[in-house]
Amino acid sequence: MFVLLVLLGFGLCAGNIQKPGKLIGKLETIYHGVTGDVYVSEESDSKLNIINFNYDGEGPATVFWIGLKGKHGPLIDSSGILVPDENGQTGPLKEYKQANITINLPNNIKSSQVKWLAVWCQIFKLDFGHVFFP
Ligand SMILES: *[C@@H]1O[C@H](CO)[C@@H](O)[C@H](O)[C@H]1NC(C)=O
Repeated sequence: MFVLLVLLGFGLCAGNIQKPGKLIGKLETIYHGVTGDVYVSEESDSKLNIINFNYDGEGPATVFWIGLKGKHGPLIDSSGILVPDENGQTGPLKEYKQANITINLPNNIKSSQVKWLAVWCQIFKLDFGHVFFP
């Protein structure tokens, strides 16, 4: 029983996302091998699932970064809002290889308010890869 629970827990933590949700699109790669499919979770409009996420982890201050509709428009720039990683951390993103992760939009932001999601370097103000929301 214990082993089963541990295995189950590991399965969930390892990003075994059974139902990714509603597809937003693929991350468009710019630098550092950023790829993945971005979905809005069926569980909550404030959760994004990134399936088969890849990033080489070599940026010095890389974070998930979103822009809101109306406010920041389609421009991916330093006016974005930081989204903590799947562990709720705001530190630089580590390397990911075909990872399935869930990130929570901060401040009760809903996916319908989001114009774009990027993997963003805060030091060089560089977009490593992004997807636009419909
Ligand atoms: C990630 O999720 C996809 C879609 O649900 C699944 O096919 C894949 O096996 C998962 N990968 C891992 C490492 O859990």
